[in-house]
Amino acid sequence: MLVDGKPYRTIWLADDEPGLVRIIDQRKLPFRFEIADLRTTEDAARAIVEMYVRGAGLIGATAAAGMYLAAIESAAEEDFEASIQKRADFLCEQRPTAVNLRWAVERSLGELAAENSTESKIAAARQTAIDVADEDADFCRRIGEHGLDLIREIHEKKGGGDAVVNLLTHCNAGWLAFVDYGSATAPMYAAHDAGIPIHVWVDETRPRNQGARLTAWELGQHGVPHTVVADNVGGHLMQNGLVDLVITGTDRTTFTGDVANKIGTYLKALAAKDNGIPFCVALPSSTFDWQIRDGVREIPIEQRGGEEVTVMSGVPENGDDEIEIRISPETSPAANFAFDVTPARLVSKLITERGICEASEEGVRSLYPENFA
Ligand code: MRU
Repeated sequence: MLVDGKPYRTIWLADDEPGLVRIIDQRKLPFRFEIADLRTTEDAARAIVEMYVRGAGLIGATAAAGMYLAAIESAAEEDFEASIQKRADFLCEQRPTAVNLRWAVERSLGELAAENSTESKIAAARQTAIDVADEDADFCRRIGEHGLDLIREIHEKKGGGDAVVNLLTHCNAGWLAFVDYGSATAPMYAAHDAGIPIHVWVDETRPRNQGARLTAWELGQHGVPHTVVADNVGGHLMQNGLVDLVITGTDRTTFTGDVANKIGTYLKALAAKDNGIPFCVALPSSTFDWQIRDGVREIPIEQRGGEEVTVMSGVPENGDDEIEIRISPETSPAANFAFDVTPARLVSKLITERGICEASEEGVRSLYPENFA
């Protein structure tokens, strides 16, 4: 996507230096646009856990790039196999909820296992990192094409022409959460580019404000009309006919259609159900967990430090650098559950790279029969 008119992906391998991975440092956005370098497995792990990169697809792409760096490091160790496995386990430990992390690491290990020499293992890890990133971008682009049909249908029902389709999204399932395009935002970009008038309500998404900071920035860079709202506003908007469609992303979706996504998503799904508004979830197939049936019981929910709740950051009006402020008494503890699970019964449709399906085992099976063998 474009940043000040220049095309970027969120992660790429440097052409001119083997063993160098570059990422957009998302901790600084929207106030500063900075590129960070990853040269070691440790760098890749830190980028994931400290959220230089975040979002299911990008966590997966960074893990695949981390495996390339791990292969280079392991070539210098006495026992390549033991070393690469240790580094793979280390990468997998960094964040628990987005299944793309484990998926990417296992895909890389599988490609490495098929090679005999150290050189060919490094080459395979590098190629896998490229393939995971390219596939992520391609799948998100296709999600956009399928989701566009849903938005077009609503636009036509509203009379077409100047009628505006009002969308609501939570957190950032935009191109910053993937390699390009995004999952929830891909249909929005496709609709905007197709000339359908859309407007997006952007949930701020406490505690880290990925909506206010990242989704708003992304949509603004692409010229998509949007409004940032506090997290509690969605129900009111829906009751008053101001939302036509909710689209969110997901960090892990069971093969039965239960969806783990950023904390607060479940409440939006309940409000959508109560108001008869379609609640759709967009995801590439790398975000399905083919082992888990019951999302509420089985998906691991990340808990992060309480300081993300008690301390907020932003820039002062005078344009100085970003500052932090505490918003609650120093002695009050805070809990920070990073994700929640929306049961399939509250999800209207899943939008995938293969098309749109019901959020149910039958629906998912109709698009991905090979995973139900
Ligand atoms: O904690 P994050 O920023 O990595 O979480 C990302 C999300 O939960 C997003 O909502 C997104 O929908 C899922 S990732 C595509």
